[in-house]
Amino acid sequence: MPHTNTDATAIDRMPRGGPDASCVDRLLQTDRLEYLDRQDVPPAVKRSVIAALDWTGRVFGHHDQHARLVLDEIADVPDPLILELGAGHGALSATVLDWHPTARVTVSDIDAESVAAISTGPLGAHPRAEVRTVDATAIDARDGEFALAVFALSFHHLPPALASKVLAEGTRVADKLVVIDLPRPPSPLHLLRLATMLPLAPFVPFVHDGVISSLRCYSPSAMRALAAHAGVDVEVRTGLMSPQVTVATRR
Ligand SMILES: C[S@@+](CC[C@H](N)C(=O)[O-])C[C@H]1O[C@@H](n2cnc3c(N)ncnc32)[C@H](O)[C@@H]1O
Repeated sequence: MPHTNTDATAIDRMPRGGPDASCVDRLLQTDRLEYLDRQDVPPAVKRSVIAALDWTGRVFGHHDQHARLVLDEIADVPDPLILELGAGHGALSATVLDWHPTARVTVSDIDAESVAAISTGPLGAHPRAEVRTVDATAIDARDGEFALAVFALSFHHLPPALASKVLAEGTRVADKLVVIDLPRPPSPLHLLRLATMLPLAPFVPFVHDGVISSLRCYSPSAMRALAAHAGVDVEVRTGLMSPQVTVATRR
């Protein structure tokens, strides 16, 4: 169902902790942008954040973990077409292609530099990969074109009205949308997480963006409110030490 501008304003007022967020949780959020989302930041700074995400993903196994989540969701689809949104470096798509012999992947990001970097790497020449610029809030693809779309560690970049559009658009073009993101911990643990990162945030761009990501990530109740606004069904799985995984499907 289409939403009016008034609806968009109302959902944009929702705290990142969801409609039922505590007073403290409502303080633990920010409108400040990550370096990755700013136009006034030198490309080298953005590249350092993307490179650090790729490096930590390899060292701590996030790329493998995310690829497993994706492949588990389409275990019964013979030759799946997959859309990766907000791919950044493309390591998730590369892992999926390594592990699945017939999957085809459209690897995409809104950022032209990231898309160019992925295109000139191994994915640009992979016979089962296509690399494209795609805005996750307005996806240029046919209804039901993909078996699955995945948006990893990126959803928190968007304010609620746009995040809700990703849920609507992802489930329009794919049978399932998998949103993998940071979990939003209970406030005392959240404060602890922030305290460990804050001292390095002014000096290390990756940590700067990590602090903002932590403040901007959505709780399970926020994900459910965004899904209700988008008119889609969601199942949210979350934990303190594991990523928050939201599987969205159209009604
Ligand atoms: C923190 S990076 C995550 C990169 C990678 N997915 C990962 O898991 O490491 C967030 C990415 O989301 C992308 N992004 C932000 N807004 C977007 C949008 N509206 N559509 C598509 N990608 C977007 C950014 O350009 C960036 O590459």
